[in-house]
Amino acid sequence: MITGKYPGLRLRRSRKNDWSRRLIEENNLTHNDFILPIFLIDGKDKKQEIKSMPGVYRYTLDKINPVIDKAIKKGLPMIALFPYTEKKKKNFIGAEALNEDNLVCRALKLIKKKYKNQIGIMCDVALDPYTSHGHDGLLKKDYVLNDETIKILIDQSLLQAQMGCDVLAPSDMMDGRIGEIRKALDKNGFKMTQILSYAVKYASSFYGPFRDAVGTKGLLKSSKKNYQMDFRNSNEALREVALDIKEGADMVMVKPGLPYLDIIKLVKENFKIPVMAYQVSGEYSLLENGIKKGLTNNDIVIESLIAFKRAGANAIVSYYADRLDTILK
Ligand code: PBG
Repeated sequence: MITGKYPGLRLRRSRKNDWSRRLIEENNLTHNDFILPIFLIDGKDKKQEIKSMPGVYRYTLDKINPVIDKAIKKGLPMIALFPYTEKKKKNFIGAEALNEDNLVCRALKLIKKKYKNQIGIMCDVALDPYTSHGHDGLLKKDYVLNDETIKILIDQSLLQAQMGCDVLAPSDMMDGRIGEIRKALDKNGFKMTQILSYAVKYASSFYGPFRDAVGTKGLLKSSKKNYQMDFRNSNEALREVALDIKEGADMVMVKPGLPYLDIIKLVKENFKIPVMAYQVSGEYSLLENGIKKGLTNNDIVIESLIAFKRAGANAIVSYYADRLDTILK
């Protein structure tokens, strides 16, 4: 009997029935695989749909409990907080980042007090929500200063850790910041605060809708190319990850997601460290628009998310994280 080739060998045999397809499936999605981003806004009694991201909202602090209740009930392991900052609270150096009464700090205190360790809380470390120019650090002649920015990021990290943040996620792409932040955390009694480094963050046009969501749209005069990575490169991604691991990162992130599956896979194969992937706002908006226009349906979301898992992502930051049941059914 010839089994090694057609007609003896038929790969379609195992695809014929649903039970068989389920039996041999290599990847699947569970709620444990997701991190839910939550956009915050000052004020009271507001649930504001974000124009460029239909189906995603900004919430005032009095409105976030149901969102978090739902996330816990579904078993999502972590949420990520992103503040919309009013123009009047932004300035050239992003001072609001260090205001211990800023929106993120108030949210952290509130959520930690009520929910303890039922769900992890992740916060970005970067100045972009707070600077009048929309850059992630201190600006000098269109160039973001590295070492000077790190000094502020350390203070922002300590402040967020003190307010109850479980996972600090530096998304700024300054050189050397992971090591400096780790050192400061350990010295100040935050040995157990984790660092999820946005180690591989590309200068991407896929971030557009997010910048609308956090109120930085239109502020950016130049680009972020002098600190975020060039999308033509992949070796550089491995160097970034290697450095961040050496400096003490607990987990690393690749961002954006779908256009960078090759990078997720490379990182996963080269380093045995948890790899997160960010299905960013532009990816969300493209999918969502296609679905809204009837060009495709919800299955496209599952297909995209499974691709992250197949590439090797341990978890995915996704604006779909709180709607998986409806999408999966
Ligand atoms: C800011 C930050 C950005 C995103 C997450 N954190 C935007 C940027 O770097 O300009 C993008 C997320 C998304 O597009 O969904 N440091």
